[in-house]
Amino acid sequence: DPLISAVLLAKLYISISAICTLLTLCNNGKLSSVPLGLPGYIEELQLNHNHIQTLPNNSLLHYPLLKTLSLAGNGLVKLESNSFQNLQLLETLNLAENDLHIGYQETNHALMQLPRLRALDLSENKLEDDMASVLLQNLTSLEYLNLSRNLLLRLDESSFRDLHQLKELDLQRNMIFEIDGGFDTTPKLQRLNLAFNYLPCLTDFHMTQLVVLNASHNSIEWFMSRQDLQNTFHLETLDLTDNKLFFFPFLPSRTRLRNLYLSHNRIRFYEHLADNATSPNWTTSVQFYNLKGNVSNVTAQLWDESVYGDISSLEILDLRGNQVDYFPRGFIGTMPVLSRLQMCTNCLKTLNLTLEQFPGSLYELDVSNNRLNQIVADEGTLTVLGNLTYLNLSLNDLERVPTRLFSSLPSLRSVDLSYNDIGICQSAVPEASGDNTSDCVVWTNLVSLRQLSLKGCKLEGIPPSAFAGMFLTHLELSDNPGLVVEESLQSLSATLQHLGLGNTHIQAFDFSPFQRLNSLNISRNSLPYLPSSLLNLDLQMLDLRDNKLSTIPPSQANTLAPNLRTLFLTGNPFNCCQMEWYRMFETTKTVNMVDKSDIMCLDLSKRTHHMEIFSSLWCGDKSRESILWYLLLYIPICLSFVGILIIFLFTFRPKLLKKTIKKKCLKPTSY
Ligand SMILES: *[C@@H]1O[C@H](CO)[C@@H](O)[C@H](O)[C@H]1NC(C)=O
Ligand SMILES: *[C@@H]1O[C@H](CO)[C@@H](O)[C@H](O)[C@H]1NC(C)=O
Ligand SMILES: *[C@@H]1O[C@H](CO)[C@@H](O)[C@H](O)[C@H]1NC(C)=O
Ligand SMILES: *[C@@H]1O[C@H](CO)[C@@H](O)[C@H](O)[C@H]1NC(C)=O
Ligand SMILES: *[C@@H]1O[C@H](CO)[C@@H](O)[C@H](O)[C@H]1NC(C)=O
Ligand SMILES: *[C@@H]1O[C@H](CO)[C@@H](O)[C@H](O)[C@H]1NC(C)=O
Ligand SMILES: *[C@@H]1O[C@H](CO)[C@@H](O)[C@H](O)[C@H]1NC(C)=O
Ligand SMILES: *[C@@H]1O[C@H](CO)[C@@H](O)[C@H](O)[C@H]1NC(C)=O
Ligand SMILES: *[C@@H]1O[C@H](CO)[C@@H](O)[C@H](O)[C@H]1NC(C)=O
Ligand SMILES: *[C@@H]1O[C@H](CO)[C@@H](O)[C@H](O)[C@H]1NC(C)=O
Repeated sequence: DPLISAVLLAKLYISISAICTLLTLCNNGKLSSVPLGLPGYIEELQLNHNHIQTLPNNSLLHYPLLKTLSLAGNGLVKLESNSFQNLQLLETLNLAENDLHIGYQETNHALMQLPRLRALDLSENKLEDDMASVLLQNLTSLEYLNLSRNLLLRLDESSFRDLHQLKELDLQRNMIFEIDGGFDTTPKLQRLNLAFNYLPCLTDFHMTQLVVLNASHNSIEWFMSRQDLQNTFHLETLDLTDNKLFFFPFLPSRTRLRNLYLSHNRIRFYEHLADNATSPNWTTSVQFYNLKGNVSNVTAQLWDESVYGDISSLEILDLRGNQVDYFPRGFIGTMPVLSRLQMCTNCLKTLNLTLEQFPGSLYELDVSNNRLNQIVADEGTLTVLGNLTYLNLSLNDLERVPTRLFSSLPSLRSVDLSYNDIGICQSAVPEASGDNTSDCVVWTNLVSLRQLSLKGCKLEGIPPSAFAGMFLTHLELSDNPGLVVEESLQSLSATLQHLGLGNTHIQAFDFSPFQRLNSLNISRNSLPYLPSSLLNLDLQMLDLRDNKLSTIPPSQANTLAPNLRTLFLTGNPFNCCQMEWYRMFETTKTVNMVDKSDIMCLDLSKRTHHMEIFSSLWCGDKSRESILWYLLLYIPICLSFVGILIIFLFTFRPKLLKKTIKKKCLKPTSY
């Protein structure tokens, strides 16, 4: 009984010691009203997920010291006007997941009696615009408000009229499509979440006090701050992920913006349109017309660097999944403390590090999945990038890289060069061409590097000393069909933890020196059996997909099972009648067989079955065979016994038979 247990709990607290804050939990019960018998001095009461549909007047009269009250998920339709009459100390009230759209007016009267109310959660209450504005009337002390998952469409001056102290407002997952002065009445607002709404644009942004603005997952095409404001904006984080921006946002001319998230938009730069020589007849400005007319139209010089606003404090710039094909002149240079630049999945064709002047603070540079066919960098530029730790160049069209690109970066820990056409140099000194680029890389002696990915680089032979003097923990060589590894990995045997050799067609490889290896990918290699040298390792992840394994000897399975956590097995022609290993992995609860229901096997007549539901009775193996034979032997004997019985009945008890047949089969005639 939740009530009793609550009382006990409260008593327990009292008896333990003189704790000042008494917390009483009565969640997930069947209470239909506030329990009465609790001690009068409790300060926190949790009544979530009960059935308290209304809160009658004076129902909390006994608990005048309450500071926190939580009534989420009760189907609450209203709070009666005087429910909170005596709760002068209440600061935090959670009314989430209720039906306050029904009794919102009376609820407002109740809330107005809480002079210290600071935090109010009204999420998921089916509130519409007018209901919310009535419900929030005169709540002048409110600092935190959660209105997420309601039915708000439009915000204007009346929405939050009296919330002068509001600091944090969550409006996620409503249907807001218009904001018209909605935040002019909340001058202290610092954190605003507008994610998952239907906003088409944010123009005339002028909330100088705001620190975090989250407008991700809307349909925003334009973000423009008010151009004439000279105040410093306090904005530090702006999230415009997953919108429809065409242009880099027009940020305020003075901000402290540190984190700018712009992934999954349609941003590119248009500086090239200003080039008089190539497009002499282009106009030099773009006009933004405001269809409502009462805000002035904006004319912007798109290649004028001031239009991007103040990005001099940016530390994180996330531009993943846009259409950027180049950076405007001086753009990168205006971000002297940039630490992470995420450009994955754009349209960059060249990257001239010398020209762009990346700052020394750069820690992560991800330009994967672009169309890069050229990287330019001189020695001086590279020495500046002393902090660069993570470099992802995968999925580009690179055929050459600057000769000393990697060896000049002393902090580099992770390099991904996958899916480019760049090899590993045969000699320790790359044969540099005139422009100091090379079609291969010398990795030897890169002591800082820990993770190296060279998937799909069309590698064939790896020179014996390719990885000498390195301390790699992760090495990916997958998708290099025909790769000859030989002795070249020996120098990594003391450090390597993950090795990817999927789709390399390797056959005989001795894994035993790699005592630290815990993750191994040897999928898609046509292996006919499990290499026995990997049995001495403490593998946690093993990818064996798409090989030619017909079974795994039970002793091997037994050795692997205790350490394994993740095992990939699909795409092998397993023998349905040799499944001991499968049962062994299955009964070891710590082994996760990925896509278990897709592991197939072949029976004696080469038919395919799902291993998970295959019954070994179908197999012809020795012990089962005998059962089958017994069955075959016994069935005729049983049949003939039955036959004899029937004949006996026919011959010796004909009367009985006649009677039965008459009774059951023949209809009595009427005459
Ligand atoms: C509520 O605020 C309105 C103005 O917004 C004021 O006229 C009214 O007197 C206030 N009511 C109470 C009970 O404070
Ligand atoms: C607001 O409520 C929603 C739903 O209950 C929750 O997911 C979200 O984290 C809350 N917002 C804040 C800022 O606490
Ligand atoms: C913005 O809100 C979305 C949805 O709640 C969340 O996933 C994202 O992490 C938020 N962004 C930031 C920068 O906090
Ligand atoms: C383009 O030409 C116009 C006049 O023809 C000139 O005013 C403008 O400065 C030129 N712009 C550039 C970028 O050269
Ligand atoms: C530019 O405009 C002039 C006059 O309007 C025209 O003669 C010329 O062909 C145009 N040039 C281009 C490249 O379109
Ligand atoms: C903005 O431009 C439109 C279209 O030219 C025009 O109708 C409107 O009057 C302009 N508004 C202002 C305030 O200038
Ligand atoms: C790279 O930028 C530097 C500095 O502006 C310039 O001298 C060099 O020509 C550029 N290289 C290429 C290939 O564009
Ligand atoms: C490099 O990183 C270190 C440690 O994070 C930091 O103290 C230093 O300021 C960074 N260097 C530059 C040039 O930003
Ligand atoms: C590099 O980027 C690719 C594509 O964006 C991604 O799949 C890969 O995991 C990244 N590499 C590393 C080491 O994070
Ligand atoms: C193993 O390598 C193959 C071939 O590149 C790849 O398709 C597969 O996703 C890799 N397995 C894991 C678990 O990453």
